[in-house]
Amino acid sequence: MVCAYRARASQWPTPLFVDPWAETLAGADGHEIAKRLDQRFPPMEIWLALRVAYLDQLVGLAVDRLSIRQVVILGAGYDTRAARLPRAGVRFFEVDHPATQESKRERLGRLAGYPIEAATYVACNFEREDPIERLMASGFEASEPALVIWEGVVPYLTEAAVRATATRLATGLDPRSLVAFDFVGKKLAAGQNLSAADQQTREYVGELGEPIRYGTDDPLPLLYECGFRWVRSLDFNELALEMLGDYQRDRQFRFQHIALAAAKTPVAGWP
Ligand SMILES: C[S@@+](CC[C@H](N)C(=O)[O-])C[C@H]1O[C@@H](n2cnc3c(N)ncnc32)[C@H](O)[C@@H]1O
Repeated sequence: MVCAYRARASQWPTPLFVDPWAETLAGADGHEIAKRLDQRFPPMEIWLALRVAYLDQLVGLAVDRLSIRQVVILGAGYDTRAARLPRAGVRFFEVDHPATQESKRERLGRLAGYPIEAATYVACNFEREDPIERLMASGFEASEPALVIWEGVVPYLTEAAVRATATRLATGLDPRSLVAFDFVGKKLAAGQNLSAADQQTREYVGELGEPIRYGTDDPLPLLYECGFRWVRSLDFNELALEMLGDYQRDRQFRFQHIALAAAKTPVAGWP
C-alpha cells in the first residue's frame, strides 16, 4: 500500500520525489488496498508523499550538515531509500523482521536493475532481539553517529515496545545520532471521540493486520524518560505549506506528526 502511494506521488506533475521501484513493488494488490483507504482518508497520498519527501531531505541534511555516514532504516518494509539516495561513503542498514525482510529481498531480486547491495540487511525481531546488537553484528559502528529513520512503525507498537526501542536508541547509539519517527495522536490510537471518518480510517488500518496501538499528543515526556535531550515535533500542515505552498483546512492532517530526537543538541542546529 505504501509503495502504491509512493508510485502515485512519483507521477505528480512536480513530484517531491521519484521512486522508480514503487510501481512494481506495489503491484495490483498494493494499489487496490490504497484505493480502499482513499475512500476513508482522502489526504493519505499527500500525507505519505510529504512524509517520504521530508525523511528523504533529512538524509541529505544529516549527511551534509551533521557528517553522518550511517543511515538506519528501522522497520524498513519496502523502503527504497538505499537505492534512491546513494551517497559516497554512506552506508544504509535496513533493520526488519526476518519474515518481512525475506519476502522483500525475494521481490527485489526479481526487479531488473535494483541495486540490492545498496543496503546491509539486518534481520531483527524487536520483540526478542536488541536492534543495536544486531546492527553491530552486521558492521554498524556504534561509536559513530547515525541517522535512524523509524517510519510508519511507532503507531503499530505497544507503548512498552516504543519505550524499549527508544531507550536503546537514546543510550546505545553515539550521542551525535538523530532519530526521526512519525506518530499519531492519542485520540486516534485510543479510538475515542473520533469523527466517523477518522473511526473508519482507524478500523480499516486494523483490518489490514496492523492495528494502531500507540499515539501521543506530545512525545517529549516519553523521549525525555528514554534518555533523549533534544526533541522537535513537526506538523504536517507545516510541511505541506513548505513543500506544496498551501494550506487546506479539509486535508485533515489532524493527527500525524514527525518527531526528531537526539541524546544531545545536534551541532549544526536544525531547521
Ligand atoms: C507499516 S510497516 C512500515 C514500513 C516502512 N518503514 C514504510 O514506511 O513503508 C511496519 C514495519 O515494521 C516491521 N515490524 C513490525 N513488528 C516488528 C518486529 N517485532 N520486529 C521487527 N520488525 C517489525 C514490519 O516488518 C514492517 O516492515
